[in-house]
Amino acid sequence: MTTTEKPASLISTLPGHYYTDPQVFALEQAHVFEDMWFCVVRSGDLPTPGSFKKVQVGRESVLVVRSRDGGLRAFLNVCRHRGAQICTEDSGAVKRAFQCPYHAWTYDLEGKLIAAPNLTKMPDIDRVEYGLVPVHLREWLGYAWVCLAKEPPSFEDDVVGAIGERLGDVESIDRWELDSLTVGRRITYDVKANWKLIIENFMECYHCATIHPELTEVLPEFADGYAAQFFVGHGAEFGEEVQGFTVDGTEGFDKLPGVAEDQDRRYYAITVRPTVFVNLVPDHVIFHRMFPVAEDRTIVECDWLYSRDVVESGRDVSRSVELFHRVNEQDFAACERTQPAMSSRAYANGGVLVPSEHHIGAFHEWLTQRLSG
Ligand code: FES
Ligand code: FE
Repeated sequence: MTTTEKPASLISTLPGHYYTDPQVFALEQAHVFEDMWFCVVRSGDLPTPGSFKKVQVGRESVLVVRSRDGGLRAFLNVCRHRGAQICTEDSGAVKRAFQCPYHAWTYDLEGKLIAAPNLTKMPDIDRVEYGLVPVHLREWLGYAWVCLAKEPPSFEDDVVGAIGERLGDVESIDRWELDSLTVGRRITYDVKANWKLIIENFMECYHCATIHPELTEVLPEFADGYAAQFFVGHGAEFGEEVQGFTVDGTEGFDKLPGVAEDQDRRYYAITVRPTVFVNLVPDHVIFHRMFPVAEDRTIVECDWLYSRDVVESGRDVSRSVELFHRVNEQDFAACERTQPAMSSRAYANGGVLVPSEHHIGAFHEWLTQRLSG
């Protein structure tokens, strides 16, 4: 073996420029975020007709709206007249319509153009044709997922199937009844790192022993670097002394009703490409959504979901929130420590993956294939 050859047990990562090059990020926006199902909003955040949220999906600003029939709809946030952004607020509620702040074209909650100053004096204008441009939307697990592709990929294969594959069967996520749960806490993290560093970190547990003292206390098998995300089907077992998935291992809440006896005292973690991570424990669910905003910056919104009873009775969720909040801070600090080194000449050809990280290589292959497509 020469000095440049790697032992067979090591495989290469992506080269450093994949994490720093704006052109790579632009390709990812086009071929990943805009072309796949992208999870944007907790449905319950839009409670009544007219509630809306503005989100960034790839290069597009998208409005997600509760329409009059009670369903959710999504539109490009662009006025069809001369292109002004219809909404500049991140979220809010309108009574019956959106009015463009430029020349006051007005669109109803279904996106149809319903009024424009002096429109009666103009030649016929098709109010549907000049309505807001609709975006494909699906609801699942209590979240809205949108896709900007003309022909979206199969939601069943890419999203539902991905979760089923990681959990062993598709139906098992239903046991947590995510759509009936309530957000007990939401924390938004502004991470100064490329989105792939965050995914790669989430996919391996080689780092757990080094940076996650509280997590490895609750899940002792993580201390030996076991690849939690890859071998997730079995669920990681709580330590013998541990009573609940809390920062100090003290008792949590009653297990959610659908969770099976053999899933009690276990932790499951799932990555749904491109931007969602889900953690399932007996009494709550931790749901991460990433919003990559630049090659070196990613906003991560993390929801802690509990049964309605737990949240409405005002029970203290802080010990269970604190455990994964610390994990998040530890993980994101590691990603931020890695980001500046991606432009170093030491990383020009990338680094290496040890055997318990080899499945990250499949993510790299998947990504490079998408970017070349
Ligand atoms: Fe919106 Fe003119 S750009 S009304
Ligand atoms: Fe971690």
